[in-house]
Amino acid sequence: MNKKSIKDIEVKGKRALVRVDFNVPMEGGKVTDDRRIRAALPTINYLLDNGASVILMSHLGRPKDAYDPKYTMDAVAVRLAELLGRPVLKTEDCVGEKAESAANQVSPGDVVLLENTRFHKAETKNDETFSKQLALLGDIYVNDAFGSAHRAHASTEGVTHFLSPAVSGFLMEKELVYLGKALADPESPFVAIMGGAKISDKIAVIEHLLEKVDTLLIGGGMANTFFVAQGHSIGKSLVEESAIETARKLLAAHGDKLVLPVDCVVATEFKADAEFKVVPVDEVPEGWMILDIGPATVAHFANYLAAAKTVIWNGPMGVFEMANFAKGTFAIAQALAGLKGATTIIGGGDSAAAVEQSGLAEQMSHISTGGGASLEFLEGKVLPGVAALDDK
Ligand code: 3PG
Repeated sequence: MNKKSIKDIEVKGKRALVRVDFNVPMEGGKVTDDRRIRAALPTINYLLDNGASVILMSHLGRPKDAYDPKYTMDAVAVRLAELLGRPVLKTEDCVGEKAESAANQVSPGDVVLLENTRFHKAETKNDETFSKQLALLGDIYVNDAFGSAHRAHASTEGVTHFLSPAVSGFLMEKELVYLGKALADPESPFVAIMGGAKISDKIAVIEHLLEKVDTLLIGGGMANTFFVAQGHSIGKSLVEESAIETARKLLAAHGDKLVLPVDCVVATEFKADAEFKVVPVDEVPEGWMILDIGPATVAHFANYLAAAKTVIWNGPMGVFEMANFAKGTFAIAQALAGLKGATTIIGGGDSAAAVEQSGLAEQMSHISTGGGASLEFLEGKVLPGVAALDDK
């Protein structure tokens, strides 16, 4: 990685303004999944252990440019304090008098969490005045929010024009090292697994990966569009009419690398307790819908995976939220967990959640905390939050 990290600068006695991605799932005023908070702890603890004070900022959800109690960072501050084992002062706003007075009063070892940056429209507009206001709160800027690095917002990009040095945290660095190496210098055989409902969201990723991988395994709802492109009838399964032509072209140009399911689990309805059965992909009954890959596909995919030295997985193989249609996704997680000497990288979002649920997370080399960010990275795009940081 050619960007400076917190290891490259003096942090002692400094107020570190740290952009984290604490955009975490919440329910009933509580954090229900704290993985993104835990993933930022190495950076926060390093700064604290080395004599800095830490002023954290993040967005949470997509509020409508104004204070909304549903999106306050209060519960995040509570969870963070528990995980750090020290108090966290939460400010009422992320800029202005209250934020500045909190930032001016910190001593080394103190932790402040600013209120949701998206309570100001200026954040997503990457507004200059707002960026300057944020920059006032620190002596150094650290970006550890890989999950938001694809956004050119004030807290991820604008602020770096007014606060120097601007460096990466350990989570950002780890994400870029794993995903970057997979794209730039993968050990082969390199196998990618793509799934999820829609092909249209991931066409750019598929095209970019096809230049790099030896094999691309396709599962999930997106495989349906390829089946239609091949001339199969798929009952009432989800299909993206507008992407059929693209699927046809991809098959024609890369048929040697693209591997599709051979069987699937079909159901009468999109319901957890719907009647279901396994059929070959060219025998989907009229009126049924494909909700998972079948066991023959798992075995077929596992053959490719067994030889792989680098694997990237993005998107579930079926509707893993329903037990009867989760077997394909969990079997792929199991196949990855069993690989010896291979680098296994899980894209963020649903695939990361599926791997967590499978209980096999510890056995993966890296699970990305970025959903949209990891997809844009895998498309080969430059992420504005990364580009803005100081070069080594
Ligand atoms: C994410 O969850 O992918 C990031 O936190 C970015 O959130 P956003 O899509 O609302 O910008």
